Amino acid sequence: MRLILLGAPGAGKGTQAEILSRLLNVPTISTGNILRAAMKNGTPVGLQAKAYVESGKLVPDDVIIGIIEERLQEDDCKNGYVLDGFPRTLAQAKALSGFAKIDGALSIEVSDSEIEHRMEGRRICSKCQATYHVEDNPPKVEGICDKCGGQLVIRKDDIHDVVENRLHIYHEETEPVKEYYRQEGLLLAVRGQKKLADTTQLVFDALGISL
Ligand code: AP5
Repeated sequence: MRLILLGAPGAGKGTQAEILSRLLNVPTISTGNILRAAMKNGTPVGLQAKAYVESGKLVPDDVIIGIIEERLQEDDCKNGYVLDGFPRTLAQAKALSGFAKIDGALSIEVSDSEIEHRMEGRRICSKCQATYHVEDNPPKVEGICDKCGGQLVIRKDDIHDVVENRLHIYHEETEPVKEYYRQEGLLLAVRGQKKLADTTQLVFDALGISL
């Protein structure tokens, strides 16, 4: 399955993408994680992206499109993938249609006030980038990643003003992408629930996955 996950920052795309990836045995391709890794390693893309990511702005389309076009050619994408965080603009969606055939675009719908609560409580692993929430999805040991033992940290773009900026950009630039996929007959939507497992069930139902 070649699937796109759409939704506001903090809607739960990364969390559901990890679950789907394991279940479908396909990679998650997260542009956010790719950019954060590039920034950590100080690569040319990372240096270019840093100011955009840390202020909540979108990285220029040509940079992101190039990264994804190259990544989708790798061997592990042959049987499908879950795209998390791409496409985020109409230009990216149109470019993707030129080099990949997508099976579905699933939007996770969450209100802005719930998003703000989630971002405030989000912690990510500094090593493997797994995501937690201090109340709703806590690690077994406070501050430590369940998966790799790495230290959990707060993302720089999860501070209040940056979150507001990201939400504004989402409504302006990314919501039109939903309409694009609706017109292509590929859009599915679920309402994000308070409990993570309840959202997962709705995602499975929408995709026709039964366990
Ligand atoms: P990116 O990392 O993609 O950020 P985002 O889309 O803003 O998404 P998030 O990672 O913040 O949230 P998510 O929806 O994955 O939610 P999560 O599962 O973590 O991008 C970062 C930046 O990179 C962008 O701002 C931009 O600068 C740049 N960038 C990336 N892609 C780009 C592109 N295509 N074009 C241009 N620039 C690009 O969940 C959030 C929290 O909620 C977690 O704590 C989680 O545990 C919790 N949670 C999840 N689900 C539930 C639930 N159902 N109930 C309760 N808690 C829940």
